[in-house]
Amino acid sequence: MNFVSKYCKIASCLSLIVLLLNCENKDSKKSDSNVSDFNQIEAKIDSIIPLLTLEEKVAMCHAQSKFSTKGVERLGIPEIWMADGPHGVRAEVSWDDWAYAGWTNDSITAFPALTCLASTFNPELANKYGFSLGEEARYRKKDIILGPGVNIYRTPMNGRNFEYMGEDPFLTSTMVVPYVKGLQSTGVAACIKHFALNNQERWRDKVDVYVSDRALHEIYLPAFKAVVTEADVWAIMGAYNKFRGQYTTHHELLTKKILKGDWEYDGVVVSDWSSAHTTDEAAYFGLDLEMGTGTDGLGLTTANHYSQYYLATPFLEKLKSGEIPESVVDEKVRRILRLMYRTNMSENRPVGRANTKAHQDVARKIATEGIVLLKNDNNFFPIEDKKELTIAVIGENATRSMTAGGGSSELKPKFEISPLQGLQERYKNATITHALGYHSGKSIYDEIVPSTYNADSLKLEAIQVAKEADIVLFVGGLTKSHLQDCEGDDRRQYKLPFGQEELLSAVKAVNKKVGFVLVTGNAVEMEWLNQVDGVIQTWYLGSMAGHAIADVISGDVNPSGKLPFSFPKKLEDNAAMSFGETSYPGVDMKQEYKEDILVGYRWHDTKNIESQYAFGYGMSYTYFKFDNVSVDKESYIKDEKIKISCQVSNTGNREGAEVVQIYIGKSDSKVKRALKELKGFSKVNLEQGKSETIEVSIDVNKLAFYDESISDWNLEKGDYNIYVGNASNNIFETLKINIK
Ligand code: GLC
Repeated sequence: MNFVSKYCKIASCLSLIVLLLNCENKDSKKSDSNVSDFNQIEAKIDSIIPLLTLEEKVAMCHAQSKFSTKGVERLGIPEIWMADGPHGVRAEVSWDDWAYAGWTNDSITAFPALTCLASTFNPELANKYGFSLGEEARYRKKDIILGPGVNIYRTPMNGRNFEYMGEDPFLTSTMVVPYVKGLQSTGVAACIKHFALNNQERWRDKVDVYVSDRALHEIYLPAFKAVVTEADVWAIMGAYNKFRGQYTTHHELLTKKILKGDWEYDGVVVSDWSSAHTTDEAAYFGLDLEMGTGTDGLGLTTANHYSQYYLATPFLEKLKSGEIPESVVDEKVRRILRLMYRTNMSENRPVGRANTKAHQDVARKIATEGIVLLKNDNNFFPIEDKKELTIAVIGENATRSMTAGGGSSELKPKFEISPLQGLQERYKNATITHALGYHSGKSIYDEIVPSTYNADSLKLEAIQVAKEADIVLFVGGLTKSHLQDCEGDDRRQYKLPFGQEELLSAVKAVNKKVGFVLVTGNAVEMEWLNQVDGVIQTWYLGSMAGHAIADVISGDVNPSGKLPFSFPKKLEDNAAMSFGETSYPGVDMKQEYKEDILVGYRWHDTKNIESQYAFGYGMSYTYFKFDNVSVDKESYIKDEKIKISCQVSNTGNREGAEVVQIYIGKSDSKVKRALKELKGFSKVNLEQGKSETIEVSIDVNKLAFYDESISDWNLEKGDYNIYVGNASNNIFETLKINIK
């Protein structure tokens, strides 16, 4: 049956089921018109479940294809269609293998990677991001977008850090909640991932993570809890790895007790692709939708493959024999139908649109606001566009596509403006020259095909171009290929790859004025820093990358991004890496997060290890002054809010934005604590010469630590320090308060 006739068939059945329910709905409306939407949906679900056969219920709990699950055609209940990913709607994948379907109408807007969104420290932009992505998913008829990913940045080696929102649970939570709200307002479910403790790609489907309850609750779970309790997320994806010996996708403590018990999550738990491993655990520990089982992630499917899923025939047989009570599958079906009423069976679902100027403007705005100015000696940036100027653009990342690759988050954008193209279009008077400089070769899945280019001739050409230019922009960094910023495995080195450091030295030898445009989703070693006057961290910026980079380099936009993770000087300065193999990547598939709660800047601050660049750091083309820092009271009790205010003044000669960050610590705590932890921030835009007083309010309850002795949060009484700054390593005021 082709797609059209199938679609018409479902549409006619759908009208039947809606008719049925509406007449019933009228009755319920007659009786109690103020019934909340939720109760009405529950009533409809109550009326559907008895109509379903056991076979139909079980069929709804697992994939029918790579990215879809069965509905109940007989009753007009539609299929659920899902697509990656966190940065845009992935190109259509084939029904039953990982190959792309080759459609010609599935190009979309590629939004910046989530590390860039986190760097904006701007929750309103996060909401626009989610909304725009949701509209494109609606347009592509997807009911679930498989993202955002919020796994915490624990080590610079993790291949997927670029997809996530950095090392701090408060920043990640504050940015992901509006993203999910925006996305779900378009009638598409977000699917927050990967729940939980998937903090590396190396052996991701086998490694068994051990970490304390305290670090679990204070570092690794907060973002998931935030989207459940504050954004009402409709789907969550389990992770591949184990935790304390059990697979996290159907985990008694994580998915059953904490997620569906303590947090009262009412949505669907989706497996990662082939992250389900047993029928009983999947049945009893909270997995609702099993996807991708039996494939090695890259193919290898067999005939009637889907009936062999753990939640398929094996599950059906246990239900029929009575070994597993029918209530177990009913609970799964209830959650799946609830997701349908929120998406493809919702009566007032908005329409979708893709590749609009509005979406491209959002992508460009997030990109320009997420770029971080790391170094700017001799006011290297911004670079004025003037006739007599020649700018040499050198490096593979000036022209390499950064929306392709990286794994499941890769995209097929309608267009992608490269850094070189963006600069060429913006600089109408100056002369822009270019040399590839170095070439990374290419990787086809797990093997690297070395470059066919001759490295020496590339270098000579780059040196020649640099010699003849006034200024050099070295556009380097990492790629989205295997062992780089890419899903499926981790980086193997902290240094810049492909001979970039040697090339940089050679270029510097012939031209003193060099700026580095760093295109990565991760920290890198920066031994080369003293060779360049300026560095901008530009992330993977999506469709509008080149325009955004040119906006900042030319000064059209004043950068205001702040790092969402620390750049350690040396790899062993990073917490996870400093504890050896057991801590990362694990020994014999067993891993222990020995740094515990001291992740990222928490480690650098507490152990007094200076980072190359600190969490929360980012420069501007203008300057700011901070005065009159104060709190509204000296002592507080639980459930109150602490109000911190600070006057910010723009003392430079152009407009700009600054992020005031509030960290809180307790130096005399009875338990081990980080020196300080981010608990609030506020971004303020100021014209030159202008001042504004910002106010940040912090729930006193958020100062509690997770107390393992009571398995609950504990708000310790006594004195606390409030650190007010514009970077984790630049605190300009410390105040004391007391919790009674
Ligand atoms: C991948 C990823 C997950 C993605 C899924 C579908 O293995 O881990 O993030 O959504 O499979 O492609």
